[in-house]
Amino acid sequence: MKIAVVTGSNRGIGKEICRQLAEKGFQVVATGRDFHKIQQAAEEIGHGIVAYQLNVSDPSSCNRFYNLLAEKFSSVDVLVNNAGIIGNKPATTFDMGQLQAVLNINLLGAINTTKALWPMIEKSKEARIINVSSSMGSLKEIQSGGYTAYRLSKWSLNGYTMLLAADAPPHIKINCICPGWVQTDMGGSNAPRTVQQGADTAVWLATEKNIPTGKFFKDRKEISW
Ligand SMILES: NC(=O)c1ccc[n+]([C@@H]2O[C@H](COP(=O)([O-])OP(=O)(O)OC[C@H]3O[C@@H](n4cnc5c(N)ncnc54)[C@H](OP(=O)(O)O)[C@@H]3O)[C@@H](O)[C@H]2O)c1
Repeated sequence: MKIAVVTGSNRGIGKEICRQLAEKGFQVVATGRDFHKIQQAAEEIGHGIVAYQLNVSDPSSCNRFYNLLAEKFSSVDVLVNNAGIIGNKPATTFDMGQLQAVLNINLLGAINTTKALWPMIEKSKEARIINVSSSMGSLKEIQSGGYTAYRLSKWSLNGYTMLLAADAPPHIKINCICPGWVQTDMGGSNAPRTVQQGADTAVWLATEKNIPTGKFFKDRKEISW
């Protein structure tokens, strides 16, 4: 059975990615920074999902998670770096505290988790890493301004995706996605997309037989950086 790890999955898009991957036969490892919340989410989804505490912004939490996971499983076939927070102030007034908090989770969180799990990812015969980014960090949309910390974090996450894809061995495919504007705590109730739609492209990249590496996708189609 293939093993899939999803970060920030006690609610929103991450929880839905867990549900869809579990329905497709993966052994899903749901993770969240609050153990009770992630355990509750795993129970709600069912399908034998296991829950682990993981704060992606804390490298020691990532290493602890790796050690616990390695006791139970030998490899990781899919890692979805989904955990994220918003930072909405314009470039003229944002504060460094907000920038650091957002980068710590959205960018360094993905890096911490990937680095910690790398030995288990390398052991997979065919691994996939999917970074949940946003078109708000694309070169085109970043020029609209606002959301400084968030846009910088996703722009940098896109850069990390390209770098990792360039350096990784060919059996590990690394891509990032934009889920669109989705009804979650982050997206709000006016968002036009459901979590099912928001999760779709990540699940497709995790399961589709032939996929490229080092690309940016939305609605199962490659989009521009
Ligand atoms: N919703 C949208 O319209 C939209 C659009 C484009 C991209 N995205 C991206 O999609 C991803 C998921 O967003 P969402 O809409 O599902 O947001 P959400 O409902 O706010 O969920 C965010 C998840 O990230 C977790 N998280 C935050 N900090 C964490 C940390 N340090 N360690 C581990 N988990 C942490 C949260 O856990 P807690 O409950 O502990 O806070 C929560 O489970 C994010 O990367 C976001 O940037 C969303």
